Amino acid sequence: MKVLSPSVAFTAVSVLASTSSAGPTRRAKCGLPLVQDKALVDSILIDDLLGCAQDLEDIAYSTSRRNRVHGTEGHLNSVNYFVEQLKSVGDYYNIELQEFTTEVTIQSKASLSVNGETLEAGGFSFGNNGTWADKPVVSVANLGCNAEDHPDSLNGAVALISRGDCTFVEKITLAGEKGAIGAIIYNNAAAGLAAGTLGGVNDLIPVGGISREDGLRLVEQIENNAAVTSSGEFWQYIDNTTSYNVVASSKHGDANNVLFLGAHSDSVEAGPGINDNGSGSCGLLTIAKQLARWRTNNQVRFAWWTAEEEGLLGSEHYVNVTAASELDKIRLYLNFDMIASPNYVLGIYDGDGSSFNLSGPAGSAQAEKLFEEWYKSEGLPFVGSEFNGRSDYGPFLDQGVPCGGLDTGADGIKTEEEVALFGGTAGIWYDPNYHSAKDNVTNLNLDAFEATSRAIAHAVATYGTSWEGFPARNVTSLTRRSSGYSKYNTLSRKSRSVKKTYLEVSK
Ligand SMILES: *[C@@H]1O[C@H](CO)[C@@H](O)[C@H](O)[C@H]1NC(C)=O
Ligand SMILES: *[C@@H]1O[C@H](CO)[C@@H](O)[C@H](O)[C@H]1NC(C)=O
Ligand SMILES: *[C@@H]1O[C@H](CO)[C@@H](O)[C@H](O)[C@H]1NC(C)=O
Ligand SMILES: *[C@@H]1O[C@H](CO)[C@@H](O)[C@H](O)[C@H]1NC(C)=O
Ligand SMILES: *[C@@H]1O[C@H](CO)[C@@H](O)[C@H](O)[C@H]1NC(C)=O
Ligand SMILES: *[C@@H]1O[C@H](CO)[C@@H](O)[C@H](O)[C@H]1NC(C)=O
Ligand SMILES: *[C@@H]1O[C@H](CO)[C@@H](O)[C@H](O)[C@H]1NC(C)=O
Ligand SMILES: [Zn+2]
Repeated sequence: MKVLSPSVAFTAVSVLASTSSAGPTRRAKCGLPLVQDKALVDSILIDDLLGCAQDLEDIAYSTSRRNRVHGTEGHLNSVNYFVEQLKSVGDYYNIELQEFTTEVTIQSKASLSVNGETLEAGGFSFGNNGTWADKPVVSVANLGCNAEDHPDSLNGAVALISRGDCTFVEKITLAGEKGAIGAIIYNNAAAGLAAGTLGGVNDLIPVGGISREDGLRLVEQIENNAAVTSSGEFWQYIDNTTSYNVVASSKHGDANNVLFLGAHSDSVEAGPGINDNGSGSCGLLTIAKQLARWRTNNQVRFAWWTAEEEGLLGSEHYVNVTAASELDKIRLYLNFDMIASPNYVLGIYDGDGSSFNLSGPAGSAQAEKLFEEWYKSEGLPFVGSEFNGRSDYGPFLDQGVPCGGLDTGADGIKTEEEVALFGGTAGIWYDPNYHSAKDNVTNLNLDAFEATSRAIAHAVATYGTSWEGFPARNVTSLTRRSSGYSKYNTLSRKSRSVKKTYLEVSK
């Protein structure tokens, strides 16, 4: 599809009006054949996946900010793109636009110099404004997780702290209590700058993130008693912006036994977000368009969530505004985030807990098994992905909905064992461009993109046809679960404000 003209950017509201799904679901004409697994899988072509990814990149690059952050022109145009593409297959889907407003970072600055030399530095989401000039840099012992690690000499100085073990907030709070006027956190792996989010508005000292290499160099200079002084400027401008979840439900199929699939449609500020999460979005769009040639026995629902990058907010909003009795009709929610990582693995959410000892509601194990069997039948290797709720499926787990999903890796470090299975490079991130300007079409891995998308199509054909052998929903009450599955609650509360980067960072 061609690049949307900027004037299209602000028509989301009119799209909203014209696609309202209010009123009873019309029964679509039943002239279509029942979905066939092989035919649906084989209709998922890399050219279509890539074409969609290219469209999203074009949408991002045609705006001055070159990204698709929630509420920006790039994101509103992405929302319009999904709606237009879905409408291009006729009236197969009821399409709903769910408005959502939240705070996002509109503009930010992160600059740091040490002894006059500029260091590559990044800010943290919800970091506070602050500047300092020619202040001494003082090294914090260990990982800065205990008060004793923070020396008295931090008073009036800038604290230099390693990432790891405890949260950023804990480290920075302790440094601030010793009188530090700013903090620099260096990475604990040789993979980019320390970065993440502080989770929300706070009164912490300003903080910047640098690489492990730069951090260790400064630590060594300080240990050798060299004078190390720093100047820094960190600020961000945060404002409320509005955007939309796109939710498309097939008119065919049993609406009491829904298969639900989701990906997020927004990007981070740094770039177009084509693997993260254009790839998941495009996998689902391509399948949604191909599915329109078939009838299903069960309703298939797709969502493109907004504000995932701000902390899973779009999906949480959906769960918040949907009646518990409606959520109870979802037999399975499947999540797809980053499915074309350059240094990929083929990851399957570990819904049975066999790899990471975190399992999900009855049905989550079956979803994992379905994908395992599929990859085996395709002769492809696979690994488990920790089932921790730190993505758009977290809010669904909280309400007891069985979940599953696939991913190909983000800012985790690839192991030698994984290289033996999948090729690629050990010791670096699965996606070295994660949350950076380089996350664009050029850097997608097409084998991973295609293999994952075919696996999703297999799940759609299987569960779109029948839930046979799949456990009944464990519906214990028609009222909203206030605490849900408690073991996820703590995790997803965290994930809501801090997401993946933060949790990686804090460990
Ligand atoms: C931080 O600085 C930016 C840029 O000057 C400004 O727009 C923003 O309002 C400031 N934020 C706060 C909380 O003062
Ligand atoms: C965003 O809106 C909320 C609710 O109206 C308000 O409390 C908050 O201060 C707003 N944030 C900004 C940065 O204006
Ligand atoms: C969802 O509801 C919870 C509980 O009322 C609330 O704390 C949370 O902020 C809501 N989330 C969103 C994204 O609206
Ligand atoms: C990509 O989108 C999926 C689906 O919403 C989400 O679970 C995942 O966390 C996203 N990936 C990243 C790295 O944000
Ligand atoms: C798995 O987690 C449970 C708590 O959820 C814990 O009691 C058990 O010891 C864990 N098992 C292993 C092997 O870590
Ligand atoms: C069903 O839900 C109840 C309450 O949440 C829980 O105690 C029980 O273990 C669940 N059963 C299954 C099979 O998941
Ligand atoms: C995509 O990112 C690469 C850096 O990895 C860059 O060289 C290339 O120019 C970018 N593509 C476009 C279309 O800007
Ligand atoms: Zn498992």
